Amino acid sequence: MAETLGLLLAFLTLLGNLSVFHCKEANVTCIVHEDCILPCSFRPSGTVVIHWYKQQTPVHSYYYNKDQFGLQNKHFSGRTFLFNAHILQGNASLLLRRVKVQDKGRYKCYTSTKKGNHEMFVNLALKAMIQSVTMEMGEGVVSCSALNIYPSPSLTWTTDPASSLGSLPNVTTTTADHRGLFSVHSSLLIGSNLSSDHAYFCSVAAADRCQVWTASWKNQEDMTAVEGHPLAIPCVAPHPLLNFSLTWAFSSSTSSEPSAVLLRYDSRSRGSSSLWEGQAELEPDRAVEGDGSLWLRSPDSLEHSGLYVCTFSALHSKHTVQTRLNVTTAPQSVHQEIVERSRWCTVSSVAFVFTIIILLALPQCLRQRAARGASPASRAYGADEMLNVTAVHISGPHSSSIQISIQHLQASANQEEAEPDKPGSNNLKPTNGLLPHYVVEEEESFLSVKPLTPARLQENTAEIQDEDRGIAEKMVSNN
Ligand SMILES: *[C@@H]1O[C@H](CO)[C@@H](O)[C@H](O)[C@H]1NC(C)=O
Ligand SMILES: *[C@@H]1O[C@H](CO)[C@@H](O)[C@H](O)[C@H]1NC(C)=O
Ligand SMILES: *[C@@H]1O[C@H](CO)[C@@H](O)[C@H](O)[C@H]1NC(C)=O
Ligand SMILES: *[C@@H]1O[C@H](CO)[C@@H](O)[C@H](O)[C@H]1NC(C)=O
Ligand SMILES: *[C@@H]1O[C@H](CO)[C@@H](O)[C@H](O)[C@H]1NC(C)=O
Ligand SMILES: *[C@@H]1O[C@H](CO)[C@@H](O)[C@H](O)[C@H]1NC(C)=O
Ligand SMILES: *[C@@H]1O[C@H](CO)[C@@H](O)[C@H](O)[C@H]1NC(C)=O
Repeated sequence: MAETLGLLLAFLTLLGNLSVFHCKEANVTCIVHEDCILPCSFRPSGTVVIHWYKQQTPVHSYYYNKDQFGLQNKHFSGRTFLFNAHILQGNASLLLRRVKVQDKGRYKCYTSTKKGNHEMFVNLALKAMIQSVTMEMGEGVVSCSALNIYPSPSLTWTTDPASSLGSLPNVTTTTADHRGLFSVHSSLLIGSNLSSDHAYFCSVAAADRCQVWTASWKNQEDMTAVEGHPLAIPCVAPHPLLNFSLTWAFSSSTSSEPSAVLLRYDSRSRGSSSLWEGQAELEPDRAVEGDGSLWLRSPDSLEHSGLYVCTFSALHSKHTVQTRLNVTTAPQSVHQEIVERSRWCTVSSVAFVFTIIILLALPQCLRQRAARGASPASRAYGADEMLNVTAVHISGPHSSSIQISIQHLQASANQEEAEPDKPGSNNLKPTNGLLPHYVVEEEESFLSVKPLTPARLQENTAEIQDEDRGIAEKMVSNN
């Protein structure tokens, strides 16, 4: 009561002076849950009365040189502050703590000194930024959501390659919670005709379009590998990224252990850490350019079969590629492989590999034939003594390469037939090099180099085996 009386007196004193009426307006945008300053200033002159209103609602008052909370609306309780130390300099700005969506609106700052009265208006707008966009992919459906945004955002879907469906069949819902924050959730019904090897992009844009977040998800075709044969699981960022981090997570299909991050990479430090040290790594030069393909040096059926999830995270974007890998222990026989396999890789890759094969193998081949001429008899070796030649073909957006490796399949056979002057002949180690008379076949993401024809292999196994052996010996002794 005394306060109101005091206020009235202050008014009367001020009314005695000539009132100067200024009208100013400011627009302020603040972030929900953060602190916010509503600006207001006046020409200082002794004592002052300050009243902040939102429409007609009292927000904060100051007179008799102190804050007065008697009339304050409960909504603002404990959240309003003036810069008391600066009031005498003419600063009547209001600090509003932990702003809420409901705080938005038009505020009036009324100041009164003996030089006159002054009104200023502040239009407060609020924003809750997009914090993240999450995506999931299930059977025939991709979903995308973003939570706690203000004002209501928009969500759009695209695919890569572009979908022929025009507008994609989607169910999008936007809901507001009790705080007034919006969440958007969308499911894209992809059915079976758009499932694997399409990347799905979900973009969530703020109402003012100042902020756009993009997430993508791609389920790559399943891959198969043979134990001990190196391979790369491809994962390439859909567009150039700056300052990104990359993680590879793995969940085993042979054990029930939960998914674990097996490798982390950061493009700023160019550093990576791998849980499978020496077993799983990236190519550093490519990784920094957004090719995060994971190299498995020597995959093991039990340890490395499972689901691999590669995730690029950068400012306002997140891209996920999921690949299932099956590492098999029992390779099919070479004979069946040749008959069964009919998919050929691109002409250029074949030409490239063949050129190298011929260039590298010709001298060795000639030497081998000369050597065999002097040898009294050719020996028969088991088919399981084959050398296995693998060419791994990796193509990314920036370059492609072929890595070729050779592995001896059965090092233990025919010990008694070993020639005494060649002690290493039955004990071949996996090595690198090339053999002649092989075909190159495309298998998932790698090329496999195999003996030229099944007929030749069956009719004259001895000869081919012998040749292989000689060249392999040559290579081993070169090591
Ligand atoms: C404040 O925003 C309104 C519309 O939102 C605009 O008409 C006005 O000019 C703005 N005032 C200032 C001072 O920017
Ligand atoms: C009032 O003072 C505060 C704290 O120093 C400052 O942030 C604000 O900009 C000032 N406002 C005006 C209108 O001078
Ligand atoms: C989502 O569906 C609506 C109709 O239900 C359609 O107008 C819109 O284009 C679709 N969105 C996309 C990204 O295809
Ligand atoms: C994709 O599948 C839907 C039903 O799942 C079908 O209506 C549509 O015609 C198919 N589109 C194409 C291009 O095959
Ligand atoms: C990337 O990081 C570097 C150093 O950390 C920084 O200088 C640069 O501004 C960042 N770029 C972007 C686009 O964030
Ligand atoms: C892996 O491949 C083998 C041989 O092709 C097959 O028998 C097995 O079922 C596959 N395992 C999985 C989990 O797909
Ligand atoms: C040779 O390696 C390829 C690819 O790694 C594999 O598919 C094939 O089964 C292997 N051949 C033999 C006989 O192990």
